[in-house]
Amino acid sequence: MTRTIHNLTINGDRLWQSLMDMAKIGATEKGGVCRLALTDEDKAGRDLFVQWCRDAGCSIRIDAMGNIFARREGRNPALPPVMTGSHLDSQPTGGRFDGVYGVLAGLEVIRALNDASYETEAPVEVAVWTNEEGSRFAPAMISSGVFAKVFEPDYGLSRTTLDGQTIAQELKRIGYDGPDHPTVDAHPVGAYFEAHIEQGPILEAEGKTIGVVTDAQGQRWYEITFTGQESHAGPTPMNRRRDALVGAARIVEAVNRIGHAHQPYACATVGLMQIHPNSRNVIPGKVFFTVDFRHPDDAVLAQMDRDLRAACEAVAQEVGLEMDFKQIWYYAPIRFEESCVAAVRAAVDRNGFAARDMVSGAGHDACYLSKVVPTGMVFIPCIDGISHNEVEDATPEWVAAGGQVLLEAMLAKADA
Ligand code: GLV
Ligand code: MN
Ligand code: MN
Ligand code: MN
Repeated sequence: MTRTIHNLTINGDRLWQSLMDMAKIGATEKGGVCRLALTDEDKAGRDLFVQWCRDAGCSIRIDAMGNIFARREGRNPALPPVMTGSHLDSQPTGGRFDGVYGVLAGLEVIRALNDASYETEAPVEVAVWTNEEGSRFAPAMISSGVFAKVFEPDYGLSRTTLDGQTIAQELKRIGYDGPDHPTVDAHPVGAYFEAHIEQGPILEAEGKTIGVVTDAQGQRWYEITFTGQESHAGPTPMNRRRDALVGAARIVEAVNRIGHAHQPYACATVGLMQIHPNSRNVIPGKVFFTVDFRHPDDAVLAQMDRDLRAACEAVAQEVGLEMDFKQIWYYAPIRFEESCVAAVRAAVDRNGFAARDMVSGAGHDACYLSKVVPTGMVFIPCIDGISHNEVEDATPEWVAAGGQVLLEAMLAKADA
């Protein structure tokens, strides 16, 4: 039995069932989901969320970036809402919890308040942020970034898939090009909390149920194109080749080395590569690939950036390639707001959950929200620390515990 403020308790079974119902949309054979941003599956997930929120008595607003806000009115509607949320889009081989957990834990907060006929002082809102993953449209967290005025709306709307569709076109196509101005200027928020799976192994390994997130590491994303010369794989001698894939392969190695060189915290990944013309007997003339760097210390992240630039220049020279090098995204490490972190910690203590402070390794919409709104985050473990994978999993107990902490942290702010 958990001890709660105002004796309010979330319904863990209902939250779990909603997660499983949402996971049917875009379900993959291996038990995960594929709900890429602004695809038909994303639309179906959004429609289901909106229906559930309407059933729970919420009003719905949609802004020009397609962000959805479900609102449960407070005793004082003039107060800025206490908001929670996350994303419904997934990686191509994504899991049932990344993002969707934060959205549905928010809905469960509203349902629990309804069950108890509890009126909060400030309104409560649940947000669904468009394109958090950055998989179909780069960069990640684009629409919470627009909301926080880090990106211009036109920049957000013009982000483009690798095959040429823009966010604006795809929002229109699925009917989520809402009328509202997409920044915090038109939508003041009193406080923001986001619940999420940890997406790493620490909590489970230490037997903790909750992570009190104090910080999030910074990120730099790059898009690099090497251009050499396509030619015949048979008659072209080794010493006359300008093989763009050889260049890219050397950078894959260099990126991995840079990650290892800045331990204990650095992460460095080449996750996407397109080889042209991708034919087994043509020497690759052009390769496009991405680099994802992360570190909690901005100075180290800057050193990793210098290391990458030096490696790319050296390799282009060695292999005889032209290079197009772009850093397409950067955000500095962030620290969450003290009173929000304290509200999460107090909820953990009230319930006696085993917990620890932690730095988020992943990016979250909360990172951008924190630039304009007092923000905190709640992590729960995930099985074997695996995420961005169809096997991503969590236990009903962890899911319920995070929902309860979210509810109490939000109440602490909504009734303050
Ligand atoms: C997206 O989910 C990220 O953290 O990279
Ligand atoms: Mn996520
Ligand atoms: Mn993710
Ligand atoms: Mn993320």
